[in-house]
Amino acid sequence: QDVCSSLEILCEDSHTGVKVWMLYTVFEDVDIITRSVKILNGGKEELYLTKVFSACLDMDNRDFDAVSLHGSWARERQIQSVPVSHGKFSVESVRGESSHQDHPFMALKTKGTDQDQGEVYGMHFVYSGNFKATVHSDQFDQVRMTMGIHPEGFRWKLLPGEEFQAPEVVLVHSHEGLGKMTRTLHDFYRKHLIRSVYKDQKRPILINNWEATYFDFNTDKLISIARQAAELGIEMLVMDDGWFGKRDDDNSGLGDWYVNEEKLGESLQDLIQRINGLGMKFGIWIEPESVNEDSNLFQEHPDWVMRIPGRNPVRARNQLVLDFSRKEVVDYIFEQICKILDLGVEYVKWDMNRSLADVYSCAAKDQGNVFYDYVLGLYDFLERLVQRYPNILIEGCCGGGGRFDAGMLYYTPQIWCSDNTDAVDRVRIQYGTSFGYPVSSVGSHVSAVPNHQTGRSTSLKTRGVVAMAGTFGYELDPGMLTEDEKQEIRSQIEQYHRYAPLIQNGRYYRLTNPFVSEAGAWEFVSEDQKEVLFQAVMLEIHGNMTVNYVRLKGLKRDCLYQEQTSGRVYAADALMETGIPLPTAFGEYQAYQYYFKEVEES
Ligand code: GLA
Repeated sequence: QDVCSSLEILCEDSHTGVKVWMLYTVFEDVDIITRSVKILNGGKEELYLTKVFSACLDMDNRDFDAVSLHGSWARERQIQSVPVSHGKFSVESVRGESSHQDHPFMALKTKGTDQDQGEVYGMHFVYSGNFKATVHSDQFDQVRMTMGIHPEGFRWKLLPGEEFQAPEVVLVHSHEGLGKMTRTLHDFYRKHLIRSVYKDQKRPILINNWEATYFDFNTDKLISIARQAAELGIEMLVMDDGWFGKRDDDNSGLGDWYVNEEKLGESLQDLIQRINGLGMKFGIWIEPESVNEDSNLFQEHPDWVMRIPGRNPVRARNQLVLDFSRKEVVDYIFEQICKILDLGVEYVKWDMNRSLADVYSCAAKDQGNVFYDYVLGLYDFLERLVQRYPNILIEGCCGGGGRFDAGMLYYTPQIWCSDNTDAVDRVRIQYGTSFGYPVSSVGSHVSAVPNHQTGRSTSLKTRGVVAMAGTFGYELDPGMLTEDEKQEIRSQIEQYHRYAPLIQNGRYYRLTNPFVSEAGAWEFVSEDQKEVLFQAVMLEIHGNMTVNYVRLKGLKRDCLYQEQTSGRVYAADALMETGIPLPTAFGEYQAYQYYFKEVEES
């Protein structure tokens, strides 16, 4: 194809007969090279791969800083920048997932690099399991950056004649700062990685019942949420955790993927019909990789979980992890889930609420394969799902954003960004997420206040603006809204329909750094630069505050732009050189949103 071409460099070890292909794939339309390696055991004896990195970059030292993303549950993808020095700096996960804590991304930037200028060399792993990225400066001050599968827990047996293909690392370079790096990655993932029918389509505006009801719901409650939501213009109801097995809290039920009709009050088919009757799509939550000991599945197949024989397993959220390195386990769960999806489900939220521990498979011949085989089992399941239901929209999730990575993005065009729905915290979480991921992939909802994770109250407008910088949806009980709030939601939804193509396909610019600025501000610019959506949230308020001017980016010089609500006309150069003064309206966390169109010459 014309899309890309690959260079293969073959290295051969004549002593063992091992062949290693180093693969470099260059894309024609975007500044990306992907790297990986393939290894063939061309010898006569079995061998074990114990360290296979997919990419290695050696460079002259240019006084680099290493940028990485770190975090925790509800605090994903915060930014860190440390000087590259002698001695290794690494980010890594051995949790079986890309994790909340570290992220499979690392970028080296020259001193003084900001969003618009400076050299950046980034690496991003297309893989969802254990990883390690390192950088160090050697004895001659040369810099080496590597990325690949984490060697810990990896000991891959390769019989004579067998091959091992390592996952790809995406290499990105920018000579125009971190902003350009981000836009290149966004383009690359939107054009060459995300493959759902929803890739370029406007995503349905959904309402999810999790924060509205938690486990306490039945179909009457769901219908009442859906009916009110439909009146507001919301297009899909997502039934979250609690609809299956014996599941009234997180102690039981996982693994039993059949509908709890007694709890719901009717069959899933009837519920879906009623939801569709309201003109809405129906979506559902699943967590296929997990099991509670208090479940029929565990009673029948206690050996299907990962656990070390003779030891008490580590439980997290009262659950264990199913052994997805075993095909029969994947097959069985797949079959159960299909029975549900066949009933007319149009969206799936694929969750995974714990990381892996006790990684031991009683069926495995070689325990050194299990971590990796687990990820292959997960991908196999997802691949089958995507093939069988090409029109279902799948949203990844992992206790929020614990497995937000390019590997998952291949199967799930959007991923729940964080369990933290607080608009102010989200400004920072979404800022960090934007470094590598297109906004079209960032799951984001308007939830109730005081926020359930922080207790903070922000206005509906602020919550709407922040959720619009993502896939946009709601996660609250519409029955608790006042008439004024309902009216405001109707107008938010109207706005979203207008702005969605720009948000989903536009060029994304970070205008301030919300970790240090008084305001978080960002912007979407259409490919032809004729449309601009500016969004900002005040993160701090002070008496007699200094005015924050936020400078726009990426506009056409020497042109005029008209802000569509006020009708005011601005010169592009003024917007980019002087900036827009953010109002200092009373009250915390005000949000501002301005939509500009180029004034065409008459
Ligand atoms: C995770 C998800 C939440 C919700 C719960 C349900 O925490 O991130 O959005 O689905 O599980 O148990």
